[in-house]
Amino acid sequence: MKLFIGLSVLAISAFFFAPIFPEAPTGFDNKTNGLVDDATHTADQVKFDEIEQNSDGLGPLYNAQSCRECHQNPTSGGSSQVSELRVGHRGPDGKFQNPEIPIARGAEIIKGRTLVNDRAICPNGAFPSTEIQERVPDSEKIRTFRVSLNVLGDGFVEAVPDQTFVDLAKDQCKKNHNKICGQVLYVPILEAPGQTAVGRFGWKDQHASLLSFSADAYLNEMGVTSRLQPDEVTNLCNTVSEPNDKAGPDGFADIDHFARFMRASEAPARDAQLVQTPKARLGAELFDKVGCDICHVQTLATAPAGTKINGGTFTIPPALVKSSFIPTATSCSTMSAPATASS
Ligand code: HEC
Ligand code: HEC
Repeated sequence: MKLFIGLSVLAISAFFFAPIFPEAPTGFDNKTNGLVDDATHTADQVKFDEIEQNSDGLGPLYNAQSCRECHQNPTSGGSSQVSELRVGHRGPDGKFQNPEIPIARGAEIIKGRTLVNDRAICPNGAFPSTEIQERVPDSEKIRTFRVSLNVLGDGFVEAVPDQTFVDLAKDQCKKNHNKICGQVLYVPILEAPGQTAVGRFGWKDQHASLLSFSADAYLNEMGVTSRLQPDEVTNLCNTVSEPNDKAGPDGFADIDHFARFMRASEAPARDAQLVQTPKARLGAELFDKVGCDICHVQTLATAPAGTKINGGTFTIPPALVKSSFIPTATSCSTMSAPATASS
């Protein structure tokens, strides 16, 4: 009975708000959600798809040459089968410690991150004997893979107020008698030094801002430094001056194009045919009945237009204001995976 009341309240509020703020636009058609025009969005996608070379600052250590290489299925910005290796070990106190990965035959140790890059630009013609490929030593016993996430529709997730996640965590705790309690993580905003916001991107909610994530990914996935991440992971084999990613004539660096591409993307569309089948309907009922929806909430709403987020560096424009969209994995550690709009 409680379920029915909950659902009807939701239905009424959706009905009430729908005419004011329509649901997030969806599709895998590479169109803008209205934040920019289609031509600008296409130009931003070209940056997201662009294959970086050594002369652009690729590496020295990296995983892939373009954002698209891992975020592509079924189109640019989607997810993919590419997974990344993260390792570490327990210290004497039993607590997790970051790994120490020797490169260049032990001449340098890569520390301070759990990520192990799968590729390196050396040895090459200019540095024939510099062997910097990362390899995991036996001592790093804790090993796991993290799969690539979808980024389509993430502009709507970025525009969800911090307070929504704080309230969700509190409500979970209250409703489930402290058995399920969301954990809100405050993470640094790189473009607003000293300021934090509620993390919502990445499997561990390690970022709140899509610009911060762009700079992080450009450095850690591709080895390209930017104004927000100006230091290379290693200086061995490094030939391009820092930051590798410089602003173009329009004042935009690549990281700004990536962030705008993601912000302007439509949310992933649901499979309209599958949703109508009896099995899917039964599944949806079961999903709520057994409590999956305690963490994977049905809908989220963005803050109003004009709200300043990311430490005051980004103002939510009208195109990103939506009363409801369905996040696929709003979880116990707040949002853990990407948005998909309801159809
Ligand atoms: C080698 C594969 C790879 C490349 C290249 C890559 N990513 Fe990712 N991306 C991932 C993986 C894996 C995750 C999940 C990472 C995690 O949480 O540890 C991810 C997560 C993300 C997220 C968080 C999405 C969400 O909703 O939580 C964003 C945003 C993102 N990437 C943007 C980018 C951008 C921009 C680029 C290019 C500069 C890029 N990525 C390049 C593999 C990649
Ligand atoms: C206690 C909170 C919680 C509950 C209850 C819960 N989940 Fe999750 N779910 C999570 C978290 C957190 C993640 C992200 C996992 C991670 O960070 O490694 C997740 C991830 C997922 C994913 C992967 C999403 C993606 O984008 O790849 C699926 C699918 C999923 N859950 C389905 C379910 C189903 C079905 C149920 C009910 C049987 C359920 N979950 C119940 C917290 C929960």
